[in-house]
Amino acid sequence: MQRVLVTGGAGFIGSNLVRMMVESGRYHVVVLDALTYAGNLANLADVLAGDRCDFEHGNICDAAFVRSVLQRHSPTSILHLAAESHVDRSIASAAPFVETNVMGTLVLLEAVRAYPQMRFVHVSTDEVYGTLGPDDAPFTETTPLDPTSPYAASKAASDLLVQSFIRTHSVDAVITRCSNNYGPFQFPEKFIPLMTLNALEGRPLPIYGDGLQVRDWLHVDDHCRGILAALERGTTGSVYNFGGYGERTNEEMVSAILAQTGASADLKTYVTDRKAHDRRYAINADKARHELGWAPERELEEGLRSTIAWYMQNRAWSDNVRTGAYRTYYETHYNTTL
Ligand code: NAD
Ligand code: TYD
Repeated sequence: MQRVLVTGGAGFIGSNLVRMMVESGRYHVVVLDALTYAGNLANLADVLAGDRCDFEHGNICDAAFVRSVLQRHSPTSILHLAAESHVDRSIASAAPFVETNVMGTLVLLEAVRAYPQMRFVHVSTDEVYGTLGPDDAPFTETTPLDPTSPYAASKAASDLLVQSFIRTHSVDAVITRCSNNYGPFQFPEKFIPLMTLNALEGRPLPIYGDGLQVRDWLHVDDHCRGILAALERGTTGSVYNFGGYGERTNEEMVSAILAQTGASADLKTYVTDRKAHDRRYAINADKARHELGWAPERELEEGLRSTIAWYMQNRAWSDNVRTGAYRTYYETHYNTTL
């Protein structure tokens, strides 16, 4: 059984990934997570109840802590997902993004140099490529980096650091760049859970600008399968794009959410647009298909239906993460205080 360290494993994608890994029976997972507002042990409660997942509470910017985790757990690989991840927050305040996404990634890379056999999968985003016009071809791995938001700029900077450590220090790393994910356990500041919960609670659905921005939605399970394919079969130094071939306008997504929740279209509220809002993302994932044998499996309409159903059935989870009640869970489970 491979021992794998997952940074950010208590977040949205991380917790889905850790669950998939533990359920496969092929991995023993160590989660390293700072439990920021976006990280939540309630996302991992079932997994932590078993014996195939350990949890280390700490910050990737803390070099001594990172070294100690590597020494104590001896993982063969690292899946690096820990990040500040919300564009709107990065517009309000960029410093935490540079701190965690750039400096934190650098701390991990420096620590990994002591373990030449260790594989490092850097989970990045299609937002590093910037924005597309309506008729532009989808992003490929050779599309120039042209980030718009401070979030995207911090991820692009971390990608370049990873590339420099591959070339300079022979770190065995691969980079993945994925389009927008949706699925269970996504913090309700992001578009789909926010709109779903607002619809269920009869609150306004804040659509930025004209709502005609396009995102290429991919179910989180498909992204997680891609990350594991990159871990197992990726070529050192390579970048792999993952996308859902699921381009939809925000307006179309809101209509689907209203239809399924039964909420009134009167809740739609057009609000001031995000600054420098990227108009369109779309991914060409041919390289991942050819080299990793990866392709999306979850069809968007079905995936969205099951995701909205999950939020409808797990209202306690959203109340919990929004109020921070999980700290009580943590303190009880680990007999400590945060
Ligand atoms: P998330 O915000 O839900 O989770 C981030 C996790 O990282 C949280 O558990 C948080 O506690 C942890 N974390 C934050 N700062 C930390 C620090 N300094 N030290 C240790 N842990 C820290 O994010 P997500 O949506 O699950 O995204 C995970 C990764 O995938 C990110 O790197 C993101 O850039 C990338 N990504 C996300 C998407 C998407 O649609 N959500 C798409 C492509 C790529
Ligand atoms: P988001 O989930 O923040 O992901 P990203 O900005 O990284 O793509 O937003 C997805 C899309 O939804 C994006 O075009 C912004 C838009 N959006 C809204 O219209 N209203 C909202 O309240 C939010 C959070 C996002």
